[in-house]
Amino acid sequence: MAAGAGGHAGFQSPFALIQEIREWFDGPLLLSGAIASGRAILSAQTLGADLAYIGSAFIATQEANAVEGYKQMIVDSSAKDIVHTNLITGVHGNYLKPSIRNAGMDPDALPTSDPTKMDFGSDRQKPKAWKEIWGCGQGIGVLRDVPPAGELVARLAREYDAARREWVQRVLPEVAQAA
Ligand SMILES: Cc1cc2nc3c(=O)[nH]c(=O)nc-3n(C[C@H](O)[C@H](O)[C@H](O)COP(=O)(O)O)c2cc1C
Repeated sequence: MAAGAGGHAGFQSPFALIQEIREWFDGPLLLSGAIASGRAILSAQTLGADLAYIGSAFIATQEANAVEGYKQMIVDSSAKDIVHTNLITGVHGNYLKPSIRNAGMDPDALPTSDPTKMDFGSDRQKPKAWKEIWGCGQGIGVLRDVPPAGELVARLAREYDAARREWVQRVLPEVAQAA
């Protein structure tokens, strides 16, 4: 899981992460973190991953077992609305800033939590991680509605094919010329 992923995200850029993993591992590799378009799936493969793994985009689908406000907040938000903090559970993760605001905190001025004290929401006085403070990755800026999951998958497939065609048209003529 690279930086920008929903939930307990990694810290490293996918460029750095994949190139280092590929130095010692040539087996099946899934990349996740801020992937929400067909072009991003193609990019994950270009970086050296075999598969793209998508989380947040599927929360904003009709079948997802999330409250409507969460789904709509994902549709209304983009990367600038995501904060990376360890305050919520003690482990660093990415969350929707508006959900933190709704819980009465300023997402742009959060203190740092003591990492030895993980808290997954057991304290009734505090807003509950995941239930009231909503996890989300940075890739959601391209989401415009809350479709059935099948429609999202079909869109991703269409975009993937279009991005691949565009890449071939853009890059292959140069390769052919250089040969
Ligand atoms: C609300 C939420 C909860 C998650 N919980 C877990 C979890 O319990 N275990 C886990 O391995 N990954 C968890 N993830 C991470 C996802 O499995 C996935 O790696 C991540 O969502 C991919 O990044 P993306 O959301 O930007 O697509 C969670 C993600 C979200 C958004």
